[in-house]
Amino acid sequence: MKRRITKHGEAVLKKKSEAVDFAAMKKELPKLLADMWETMHAVNGVGLAAPQIGLSLRLAIIDVKPEGKSERLVLINPEVLSREGEVTEEEGCLSVPGLYARVKRHTKVRVRALDERGEVWERTGTGLLARAFEHETDHLDGKLFLDHLDLVKRLKVAVVLKDLKKDWD
Ligand code: CO
Repeated sequence: MKRRITKHGEAVLKKKSEAVDFAAMKKELPKLLADMWETMHAVNGVGLAAPQIGLSLRLAIIDVKPEGKSERLVLINPEVLSREGEVTEEEGCLSVPGLYARVKRHTKVRVRALDERGEVWERTGTGLLARAFEHETDHLDGKLFLDHLDLVKRLKVAVVLKDLKKDWD
């Protein structure tokens, strides 16, 4: 079932999310993840965090489609282990539809998380995957990509946002 995507300005996006109790959530997790994949794919996203469907949980999904092929990653209680390098690229977010901005991120990001079976995995992402790791874990800490912009840019963006918001559901 497709869920409604929460938008910039909604409280759940600004909150630090709660850790997932895997054992307690095991039963409802498959359905929840299926809903998240469906919601994300319907809008051609490359990542979606639980707060974006209104749930304050440390859970996110990523599929940056390396070489055009789908590779689904489930991040439960993810931790960023290390960050290296610097790169500034244009970025957007399903919770801020229509707005893109250049955001400084790291080129190499190592993450540890649980997968949908509760097993620990670790991976070093580069390029778009590194960016997605940082973008999605930011969501779990109540941060949006807009929070990385400097004051001048943020003021400019505020004007655009006001206009965009008229078209959001
Ligand atoms: Co986002």
